[in-house]
Amino acid sequence: MSEISPIRWKATHLELLDQRLLPGEVVWLKLDDVTTVAKAITDMVVRGAPAIGVTAAYGVVLAARYHRQSSAQHWRRGFDQDMQLLAAARPTAINLKWAIDRMLQRVEQNVSDAELEAEAIAIHQEDVAACKAMGDYGAALIEGDASIITHCNAGALATAGYGTALGVIRSVFHQGNLVMAYADETRPWLQGARLTAWELAQDGIPVTLIADSAASHLMSTKHIDWVVVGSDRIAANGDVANKIGTYQLAICARHHGVKFMVAAPTSTIDLDVASGADIPIEERAAEEVLGVFGTRIAADVPAWNPAFDVTPASLVDFIVTEKGVIESPDKQKIAAHMRQGE
Ligand code: MRU
Repeated sequence: MSEISPIRWKATHLELLDQRLLPGEVVWLKLDDVTTVAKAITDMVVRGAPAIGVTAAYGVVLAARYHRQSSAQHWRRGFDQDMQLLAAARPTAINLKWAIDRMLQRVEQNVSDAELEAEAIAIHQEDVAACKAMGDYGAALIEGDASIITHCNAGALATAGYGTALGVIRSVFHQGNLVMAYADETRPWLQGARLTAWELAQDGIPVTLIADSAASHLMSTKHIDWVVVGSDRIAANGDVANKIGTYQLAICARHHGVKFMVAAPTSTIDLDVASGADIPIEERAAEEVLGVFGTRIAADVPAWNPAFDVTPASLVDFIVTEKGVIESPDKQKIAAHMRQGE
């Protein structure tokens, strides 16, 4: 079981593991106001949809404390402005809005600072529990020994701990069934090369790094059983937004008869968007594609840098959440799944 967790709440402030520096340096940043929290999300200090949600929840705590202390009577105006800033920090991961909305429900109930803090801690703890449940459900689908490709980092670093897609891979490993996890390097931020490879290696889980463009060759020349990925937002019809490159991986998987699984908590399912076409796709700076971490490598040309893509539900074999498994997802199955246990 992984002990890596990228978020530490310290009662007076938040600490984030600076994921931009991994695996070379392990540096924790101290954040004590919501503006800094929003900027840390935008700048990729913390990334991965569930981790962004947990971080935002603590951002709400810091904002409420600050504004209530500044003016007991008129605190809502500045607080509401801060909430807009926080919600806009990254557009695709719905867990950000989900966590802010859940915290705001408590604010509307006029709860104390301590109760608000307790809500954020609950969101934090529930995320770890959800990841472990997804790990079990996902691993149960994988019969026998398996080689698995994953994309980006949907691990402990992208959540409060354990991971979504990497949670499944972790659980398959603990069952004794993991032959090899292949990590796509995931240009341009290299979450696969820097984060997934590091996190799995730390836990002694067998991992082999591949260039993003090697995935279909890998499927056609070696035995691959599954692709397992996370998600930033799942539409009501089961379309899945995830890190750019996921869609082409799903097409390759279908072509080669490789099963495609998405592991994501129900906080990633957005019933307010009918299909993937309605999911806002973040476009980041061209420089991220034109160079590697500040060093220019490309010719003098423009670049297009969408950070996510949408895999149509028809290419998804399973969505796994903390509530269980949705096979061949569609609108009816997603709606029924969300109602489960209500
Ligand atoms: O740009 P990032 O690093 O935030 O993108 C992260 C992903 O695409 C993950 O796969 C997704 O958030 C799921 S994380 C459990």
